Amino acid sequence: MPGIVIVGAQWGDEGKGKIVDLLAEKADMVVRFQGGNNAGHTIVRDGHKYAFHLIPSGILYPGKACVIGNGVVVDPRVLTDEIDGLRAKGIDASGLRVSANAHLIMPYHLMLDSAGEAKLGKLSIGTTKRGIGPCYADKAARLGIRVQDMLDEKILKKKIAAALEPKRLTLRPFAKDPALDLQSMTEDYLTFGHRLEQFIADTSSLTQRCLDDGGTVVFEGAQATMLDLDHGTYPFVTSSNPVAGAACIGAGVGPRDIDVIWGVAKAYATRVGAGPFPTELDDAVGAEIRERGGEFGTTTGRARRTGWLDLVALRYAARLNTLTGLVITKLDVFSGFDTIRVCTRYRGDDEATFDVFPYHQSVLHHAVGDYVELPGWQEDISEARSLEDLPQAAREYLDFIADFIGVPIVLVGVGPGREQIIWTQSGDRLAAAA
Ligand code: GDP
Ligand code: IMO
Ligand code: MG
Repeated sequence: MPGIVIVGAQWGDEGKGKIVDLLAEKADMVVRFQGGNNAGHTIVRDGHKYAFHLIPSGILYPGKACVIGNGVVVDPRVLTDEIDGLRAKGIDASGLRVSANAHLIMPYHLMLDSAGEAKLGKLSIGTTKRGIGPCYADKAARLGIRVQDMLDEKILKKKIAAALEPKRLTLRPFAKDPALDLQSMTEDYLTFGHRLEQFIADTSSLTQRCLDDGGTVVFEGAQATMLDLDHGTYPFVTSSNPVAGAACIGAGVGPRDIDVIWGVAKAYATRVGAGPFPTELDDAVGAEIRERGGEFGTTTGRARRTGWLDLVALRYAARLNTLTGLVITKLDVFSGFDTIRVCTRYRGDDEATFDVFPYHQSVLHHAVGDYVELPGWQEDISEARSLEDLPQAAREYLDFIADFIGVPIVLVGVGPGREQIIWTQSGDRLAAAA
């Protein structure tokens, strides 16, 4: 009964969507377990580009069971738009299921997200302004509205009124916004409820049953380890736990249901929004990586910050997630580089060095990378389908990463297309075991 968790091992946008899509072909179910439509997962199939924010990345297989778990925060407007978008393309979304216990992003969460960022001014986090933080805050405060509440008018109205009450003061600038009217908000969410009713289910039981029947479940993480609310670069993080351990909570399964945990990392590093980024390249090389890698956000279109691969952070992520395999994507972006650098430790103030990811925010904010320089390669590798097809320098780069982290590389991405992937022997073995 294999449970396979796919998580981001850096700051997001590592190519998780593509990897989940690949694994979903042979899986029985795909389950998103945290985050919301702050995520943007791109899949390129037969030259067509699909971007998903909420719907799990397995949906392109007709009828595949695709679950939005209880740990996800759901904006029903975005979800219904995504379902409509799929239908318009003739894609069968009948396998979609949404947890009745997932929390709903409400119009006031969007307003609070924007207002909060504006108030922080220079200290702002650079959120996606999708209402993610305020929605999880209401969940923890026990003032959240859940998917099942959309099916009961009386409960829905009562809960919205209770949730609005403590926010009156902060929401005063939006008082005239029709979206805040209790009656029309209730009606809008009842309508979403009617539209989504066919998909609403006890997804925890569905997932457990699938595993108990010997099925394969892929648990799809959004965001990434360094954006984790507890373990990331707080406060410059998202408001959920994208680490592998959270798959159990956000899907409603137990730790023993997880067998395989793969972390996805790019061959370099990127970050969207504010916060520490020790290997950041604020120069022409960084701009070149951004251009070649197409590093512009799927969700907000923002230019992603770029830098060299940070092995200190990656080793931290490997341990936190107990990774059994490492997926390296976008290796093709480095073709044409004479040399490539990898960060193997941090340098701080007063000649201090750090081999382990520092817990102290002031240390982290001043940390810069200490690098090992490795030879690059000139060849186009986008047609490589086995490690042997790669130039020696590219293989050495991968070996350096795997040796340093102590986790085998299972997959290597050499382009955005579904077929542009190398299964290493370790990957083949692990997949067969699963
Ligand atoms: P996610 O949020 O982790 O699912 O990643 P995104 O979809 O936001 O960003 C990854 C981007 O890289 C997408 O545009 C993918 O199509 C693209 N991509 C994924 N793997 C590769 C790869 O190996 N090479 C290249 N060149 N692009 C890739
Ligand atoms: P995927 O799943 C990259 C970042 C935002 C911001 C911080 C908090 O595509 O990898 P939030 O709106 O979550 O409160 O913003 O987190 N962020 C992401 N960065 N990829 C993502 O998702 C992200 N989701 C949130 O840019 O810095
Ligand atoms: Mg993304």
